[in-house]
Amino acid sequence: MSTLSIRQLRLRRGGKTVLRDISLKVAAGELLVVIGRSGSGKSSLLRCINRLNDIEAGAIRLDGRDITELSVTQLRRTVGMLFQKSTAFEGTVADNIGYGARLHGQNLSRAAILELMAQASLEAELVDEPAEKLSGGQEQRLAIARALALSPSLLLLDEPTSALDPIATKSVEAALLRLRSEANLTMIWVSHSIGQARRVGSRVLLLEEGRVLRVDSVDNMLNPETGDARALAFAGGDEAGLQA
Ligand SMILES: Nc1ncnc2c1ncn2[C@@H]1O[C@H](COP(=O)(O)OP(=O)(O)OP(=O)(O)O)[C@@H](O)[C@H]1O
Ligand SMILES: [Mg+2]
Repeated sequence: MSTLSIRQLRLRRGGKTVLRDISLKVAAGELLVVIGRSGSGKSSLLRCINRLNDIEAGAIRLDGRDITELSVTQLRRTVGMLFQKSTAFEGTVADNIGYGARLHGQNLSRAAILELMAQASLEAELVDEPAEKLSGGQEQRLAIARALALSPSLLLLDEPTSALDPIATKSVEAALLRLRSEANLTMIWVSHSIGQARRVGSRVLLLEEGRVLRVDSVDNMLNPETGDARALAFAGGDEAGLQA
């Protein structure tokens, strides 16, 4: 389990400031959900944390160490990332799960692969199936197993269910929540959906135009009396069709 602390982060992309004054702490084992409109900077924030984006100002510390002091390889072993749509490589499910580890010079035993599949709630009988045969939900759970193969202690999830139908969404949500309660993982989960934030998140960060508007529980944020008007407006948009 990693702790993450971000101080006064600023990021520019394509000549435009896309994140500013971002300060944030995520405790070991915490699941933080990040929500916000399209273009608010959610993916950019995740990308900063594993150095896919280089920040202009501020600092990101993982377990107390500035991430720029770590090699990119070291950092990306500790920080796993899952995207909206993952692409399986040619080959079997087992080949796919072992791939990342092989790049790091490590060969996973069959037992280890089956254990990773169990952790990711991926049915064991799929182990020798061609990965391209998987459904969208199974493909995302394969991506989870693949990320877990490197034993990350922080998992960044960028809208992991946005490309899935409601049933596959539930299966991936359940897999991630089970993983969270059983594995020693800290998670940051980007979502378009207040509904999803309510289902999975203890604490929610609302981004707007690259700034943190509020960090709070979903219930507090959306309380009609004490809640944040902008959060409520966002939830209204959410209900009006962003995504349930
Ligand atoms: N490669 C890039 N070059 C320049 N600007 C970019 C680039 N990628 C993203 N941006 C800008 O950064 C801002 C934040 O984008 P980002 O992808 O982080 O938003 P997001 O909240 O993840 O949106 P979405 O919900 O659509 O995924 C947007 O204004 C976007 O136009
Ligand atoms: Mg995004």
